[in-house]
Amino acid sequence: HRNLLGLAGLAPHELLFLLDEAEQWVELNRQPKKRADLLRGLTIINAFFENSTRTLLSFEIAGKRLGADVVNMHAATSSVKKGETLIDTALTLNAMRADAIVIRHASSGAVRLIADKVDCPVLNAGDGQHEHPTQGLLDALTIRRALRARGETEETFSGLKVVICGDILHSRVARSNIHALTTLGAEVRVCAPPALMPEGIEQLKVKAFHDFDAALAGAEVVMMLRLQLERMQGQFVPSPREYRHLYGLTLDRLGKAAPGALVMHPGPMNRGIEIDSNVADLVGEVGAMQSLITTQVEMGVAMRMACLDVLTRKARAMEGWA
Ligand code: CP
Repeated sequence: HRNLLGLAGLAPHELLFLLDEAEQWVELNRQPKKRADLLRGLTIINAFFENSTRTLLSFEIAGKRLGADVVNMHAATSSVKKGETLIDTALTLNAMRADAIVIRHASSGAVRLIADKVDCPVLNAGDGQHEHPTQGLLDALTIRRALRARGETEETFSGLKVVICGDILHSRVARSNIHALTTLGAEVRVCAPPALMPEGIEQLKVKAFHDFDAALAGAEVVMMLRLQLERMQGQFVPSPREYRHLYGLTLDRLGKAAPGALVMHPGPMNRGIEIDSNVADLVGEVGAMQSLITTQVEMGVAMRMACLDVLTRKARAMEGWA
């Protein structure tokens, strides 16, 4: 079976195949009745060892709209709390004959560990600081659709200037976006305070900045990240007020980006710290500056439908994938 553990190493045609697959589900999800019973009879387990709103709900909705039986396991109310190990938990889920398992875990690599122990496809819903592949895909889909709405159909990502700003060190969202967007030909700039910039990030073919205004010059997409205070391990982090001053996306600062720049944030947001409310809620005409944050959530459901469908029903389309 094939898994979706990360976007590192996927080829452009593999990424574009998944984006193309998602388009049909965007259309279905906009209909009054949102059912396609393609996965009827299959069981999908969402095993979440870390909190989530968007990812958990959208995987659940995605599985249900495709007709699968979806069950959620929350670590906080499971036998993990009684000390059951990750491997024993994986073997337990496997014995229930799931047809796909979706996992979120606080440790980088935990999802691969589980994938090696079970007989069905495993989808990474975010593992530690490693990857959040469906987020990278849904962000790419969101960008592609926004640019297509402006009539830019050819080579959408080629040379596109994207800034990813915030807690790059702890961000699996940043890593998956970097892999997807650089593979598709975008020019990715990452911006963070020195303590939150991983060493050697340039090896991922990105340009690193500590000065947000410099990073923003000419940017067509500005992706803000949450300051992940729960993952800090002694790093020096500016106070919230200082952080906003240096790295917060204010309306004024957005003016330094390209005209019509698109604003993104994977959520959950710290409003007033990494992004101001009047930027997060910016409703612009096509071609004008606009926030795509709620569109990202909408694309999340469609993208997860595509991933579940491809991994379970169209597995042969993924021959050779990770
Ligand atoms: N973007 C994202 O992963 O959000 P959740 O943590 O709410 O799933």
